[in-house]
Amino acid sequence: MFDKAKEGYVNLMPAHHKHSKNPGDSKEMMQSRRAFLESGHYQKLQQQLANTVQQSIANSIANPLENSQQPTILDIGCGEGYYTNEIANVLGESAQVYGLDIAKVAVRYASKRYANCHFSVASSYKLPFNDHSLDAIVKVYAPSKQEELLRCLKPGGVLVTVTPGARHLYQLRERIYQEVRLHEEQADEFAGLELIEQAKLNYSMQLVEGQAFELLQMTPFAWKASPELQAELKQCASFDCEADFNIQTYRVI
Ligand SMILES: C[S@@+](CC[C@H](N)C(=O)[O-])C[C@H]1O[C@@H](n2cnc3c(N)ncnc32)[C@H](O)[C@@H]1O
Repeated sequence: MFDKAKEGYVNLMPAHHKHSKNPGDSKEMMQSRRAFLESGHYQKLQQQLANTVQQSIANSIANPLENSQQPTILDIGCGEGYYTNEIANVLGESAQVYGLDIAKVAVRYASKRYANCHFSVASSYKLPFNDHSLDAIVKVYAPSKQEELLRCLKPGGVLVTVTPGARHLYQLRERIYQEVRLHEEQADEFAGLELIEQAKLNYSMQLVEGQAFELLQMTPFAWKASPELQAELKQCASFDCEADFNIQTYRVI
């Protein structure tokens, strides 16, 4: 038996399974990400992702929406639930939407804010779901274990991933690295799944009043930025930066 926290989430991470006291993203990273996401610069991704999930479930042989059965969707490494919530909004009451993250602070925030989803503190390396119980798994910049994805997806179920496109955050990265290496565009391969659709989303963001600093703080290269650059971005009135995402849909073979 697991207790439900007062915010409504369940903690499925036994203390002895944790490698650190507070695994996953820190409170500071979570807060920067939250502040940045609130600014709406990733809203296009949020909407396109939710529509992709809806479409892929509608087309899925596992469980089309017309079926009377409720489709079940899991967002792994969901952070504070920004995408999870939109997926639940778009699918409406026809679906059960779950979000899971190893960082308790993020899950606590998500479950306080989004009552339309079920959240848990757990690891994406050991998913707390039955074999072949999920119609879709969503993975936005989050780690995963292939065997677990395959174990939990229903036959014909789908995996929707978001990965950085070649030019993602180019203007920020060129301020940090002498030579910017473009991200690899090759879609990841997952054993037992076939890639059925790939979409690109590229647009320019005008970051105002310190938003460039919040964006920096939520990236893995934050610690590479010099204190001078950090101070400059904090003060920066306007900074133009590209967002470039790849959205891939895979289906269980
Ligand atoms: C880059 S963030 C992305 C968060 C969210 N999907 C988004 O895009 O806003 C990666 C997330 O994965 C979580 N994470 C890291 N290792 C994990 C694991 N083993 N199991 C579940 N979540 C994990 C982190 O705590 C963090 O919230």
